[in-house]
Amino acid sequence: MEKKLEEIRSILKKYNQEHLLNGYDKLTEEKKQELLKEISEIDFELIHQLYLTTNKQKENNTSEITPMDYLDKYKLGEKYKYYESIGKKAIQEGKLAAVTMAGGQGTRLGYDGPKGTYDIGLDSHKSLFELLCDNLKEEGKKYGVVIPWFIMTSKENNKQTIEFFEKNKFFGYQRNKNLFFFIQGELPMIDTEGKILIGEDGLIKMAADGHGGIYESLVKSGMVEEMKHLGVEWIFIGGVDNCLVKMVDPVLMGIAIDKKVTVACKSVVKANPQEKVGVFCKKNGRPNVIEYSEITEDMAEQCDENGELLYGESHILCNLFNIEAIERMGQNPLPYHIAYKKAKYLDENGELIEPDSPNAYKFEAFLFDAFGEVDDMAVLRVKREEEFAPVKNADSVGVDCPRTARELYKKFYKID
Ligand code: UTP
Repeated sequence: MEKKLEEIRSILKKYNQEHLLNGYDKLTEEKKQELLKEISEIDFELIHQLYLTTNKQKENNTSEITPMDYLDKYKLGEKYKYYESIGKKAIQEGKLAAVTMAGGQGTRLGYDGPKGTYDIGLDSHKSLFELLCDNLKEEGKKYGVVIPWFIMTSKENNKQTIEFFEKNKFFGYQRNKNLFFFIQGELPMIDTEGKILIGEDGLIKMAADGHGGIYESLVKSGMVEEMKHLGVEWIFIGGVDNCLVKMVDPVLMGIAIDKKVTVACKSVVKANPQEKVGVFCKKNGRPNVIEYSEITEDMAEQCDENGELLYGESHILCNLFNIEAIERMGQNPLPYHIAYKKAKYLDENGELIEPDSPNAYKFEAFLFDAFGEVDDMAVLRVKREEEFAPVKNADSVGVDCPRTARELYKKFYKID
């Protein structure tokens, strides 16, 4: 133990992070062990490099941005049935699994608990998890299968999530048979000086590494192996906070299979050219999603010969992957994006500091940064009112909030 402590002290000294042991002596034996383990697992070089990027001006974007082709689900004509029958067959053969990403912190919603357990205020008081599950079970029944469901949690919310499912008897699913939980990766948070923070519990202040962590987590946690064992070939990955998400879509699957692409994504057309959403495009000839801030106003308003926006297909986190694509994407780390957030921490005297404004950097990978890995992918435009009712903000914000999601849900399911 002493030897280990000495080794750790010298690593900390090298990276100017010696403060991490300030409160060590006051910790219980168990916590001491835990803290040392955490420290020994930190990639200090990576954290240092990430800190350096926080001071860099955003690079001038010199990439060539061009529009991405898409299909409109409701303008497929006769092809609709053709794609649908291909997808239907694959679903009936048990080739589809659903993954729900539920590791986010849901800071904008301001709800104290895993977002999936949130009740959007329907008369049934069903949680987001249950609404998603209802749809999955219903679709499974149509095709005579149970769609295996994989849920990504974070270290922070894993226990609460599983307890919630236990309390609800897993909504009729069977754990470790057709329902699986896995935990995403995380990274330490740092202050503006590059110092790693200590959280309220005396341990390293960690934060989930973004939804881009999904690929690596699926591979490392053994979920990809589990899927193969179940005969799964296609994986739909979606967020937990879209209560109209349609995880089972034979048309989307049929298109992917027919066009021999390993990624097929759904989009909804932008509500207006200035809407602040990420849109599908090609960056230097490869599939990508760019933030609204990365394209000029002119580009945002440009239309094709049919009057459709050239950059109008919003990414709604509804993506279908071939299992091989997941494996490939899980091999290469994605770039991290920096978010400046409020984070409680213990200062050098062990006092709890609760900041009123952002004070710390968090590093997140974005799922769509992996799209450039594939040569081509399919984008299918679907109807917003059928597939997109996100719960992002508190009701006071007035958009993408529980009230708007509830209204869209009721309208779609014709509930009074
Ligand atoms: P968002 O990017 O909207 O983040 O996640 P969030 O955590 O829900 O909310 P804010 O930004 O803190 O307010 C979109 C989806 O990706 C999942 C979320 O759970 C949500 O389903 N996600 C996000 C993860 O699973 N892990 C992450 O690290 C981040």
